[in-house]
Amino acid sequence: MHAIITGGSSGIGLELARLCVLNGYDVSLVARDESALRVACEKLQQLGPGRVNAVSADVRRMDALREAFEQCERAFDVCDLLITSAGIVEPAFFEELVPLHFEMQMDVNFSGTVNAVRAIYAGMKSRGSGSIMMISSAAAFIGIPGYSAYCASKAALAAFAESLRSEVGAGIHVGISFPPDTCTPQLLNELPKRPPLAKVLMGDTSPWSVETVARQIFDGISRRRREVHFGLKLKVLAMLGGFIKPVLYWQLKRSVLLQARKC
Ligand SMILES: NC(=O)c1ccc[n+]([C@@H]2O[C@H](COP(=O)([O-])OP(=O)(O)OC[C@H]3O[C@@H](n4cnc5c(N)ncnc54)[C@H](OP(=O)(O)O)[C@@H]3O)[C@@H](O)[C@H]2O)c1
Repeated sequence: MHAIITGGSSGIGLELARLCVLNGYDVSLVARDESALRVACEKLQQLGPGRVNAVSADVRRMDALREAFEQCERAFDVCDLLITSAGIVEPAFFEELVPLHFEMQMDVNFSGTVNAVRAIYAGMKSRGSGSIMMISSAAAFIGIPGYSAYCASKAALAAFAESLRSEVGAGIHVGISFPPDTCTPQLLNELPKRPPLAKVLMGDTSPWSVETVARQIFDGISRRRREVHFGLKLKVLAMLGGFIKPVLYWQLKRSVLLQARKC
């Protein structure tokens, strides 16, 4: 069995790669930074029994990505499992976010995932088998101040996964996961830039460990789950957002008013 993982050189993707190798998959990592890919590859190769390979490509570039995936399939046979973990986040209020940074988040998180799916989809369809697991975010469920591009990109993925699932045959699994804050390099980089207003809406919860998040996603792949949720609160938000969000936004508004009165 061959798993291709975009964003497999770091964080959630790397931990998922570890689980794949331990469970006997041959694993291909795809990301941009060649030295990070080499380091990840060397670590994973020591785990056995699966083989590990890494190819550098930018998920925003369809042709380069297709070539990279073809290289991976030549090395380890066809792709049985695609995990799309490549993603970025750049928190800033909409008017402060330069258009390029807005577009980059949409391009990497949304279009990059669509490109990866496109590169393996025809093969999976012709074989009538395979599994796709997209990594969205809990930010797909609610618009967070300072995260207009990120929330939009992750919510778009949820709609994409749902539509795709309605089109594919029974043999192909299309899953999507919605991780909460998770201890990874991305979160370390993001937290100092997170606006206080976002913290009011998101609450003061501690991040999840990358091991727990990846284990739940891997379990979702093994059980061919449509959606992977993390904790009761987020599952309820996903299911009953229409009822819960007005209350959360009312609380947000109230806290802004109280804050303004204090100043
Ligand atoms: N950490 C969290 O709190 C959290 C919460 C919810 C959802 N998520 C989502 O989970 C996924 C993984 O995040 P993470 O926290 O594990 O991040 P991470 O540690 O920063 O890893 C991101 C990975 O994506 C790759 N990547 C970024 N831009 C790319 C591009 N243009 N082309 C190809 N690869 C690219 C990176 O490698 P290169 O830079 O070398 O390309 C790296 O391998 C992301 O989609 C993220 O949005 C994270």
